[in-house]
Amino acid sequence: MTDVIFRPAELGDLAALTDIYNYYVRETPVTFDIEPRTIEQRRQWLDSFGLTGRYRCFVAVKDGAVIGWASSHRYNERAAYDTTVLSSIYLAPQLTGQGIGPRLYAVLFDALKDEDIHRAFGGITQPNDASVRLHRAFGFEPAGIYREVGRKFGRYWDVATYLRPMGGRA
Ligand SMILES: CC(C)(COP(=O)(O)OP(=O)(O)OC[C@H]1O[C@@H](n2cnc3c(N)ncnc32)[C@H](O)[C@@H]1OP(=O)(O)O)[C@@H](O)C(=O)NCCC(=O)NCCS
Repeated sequence: MTDVIFRPAELGDLAALTDIYNYYVRETPVTFDIEPRTIEQRRQWLDSFGLTGRYRCFVAVKDGAVIGWASSHRYNERAAYDTTVLSSIYLAPQLTGQGIGPRLYAVLFDALKDEDIHRAFGGITQPNDASVRLHRAFGFEPAGIYREVGRKFGRYWDVATYLRPMGGRA
């Protein structure tokens, strides 16, 4: 088995990233999207990241195939939220539980450490023990539970929110 490498996401990764995301759209409440996303919709998502700055996307690649990503997004359009990012991480389902997520998140947070970011926000549909453990391990602290804010698969789901202090600038 070859090792996993990590690098910034590229346009050529779009189909694989869309396939992974749509698995979680169709099969799980992890994301509150209900309809699979088109390549064009995910292209707009991918275009929102840069090679510098607050909004980044890194992929994990194994045996030449993209197997997941970790990203930081704008948290809210209003300007005072500039220093908060929303972080996100997804691995192909067959490659979870092997310790790849922490390595990928480490690449993202290392890249962000000198950016003007004060807080990272994570929202985790409950239950998701692997994601909660990952976020706690990366310094995310519980910030409250939004009860029954999403309806998918005929039931309501809670979202546990987490905040992580970032390096930021005064
Ligand atoms: C969440 C995710 C990124 C974590 O990455 P990973 O490579 O699977 O993480 P690890 O294998 O290091 O597991 C993280 C921790 O959860 C535990 N864990 C893994 N799978 C688990 C499971 N199914 N149930 C309970 N605990 C689990 C691990 O033992 C580890 O615990 P530790 O830190 O105490 O050692 C990955 O599982 C994933 O992509 N899940 C599906 C998408 C998702 O939920 N994304 C997050 C949305 S908020």
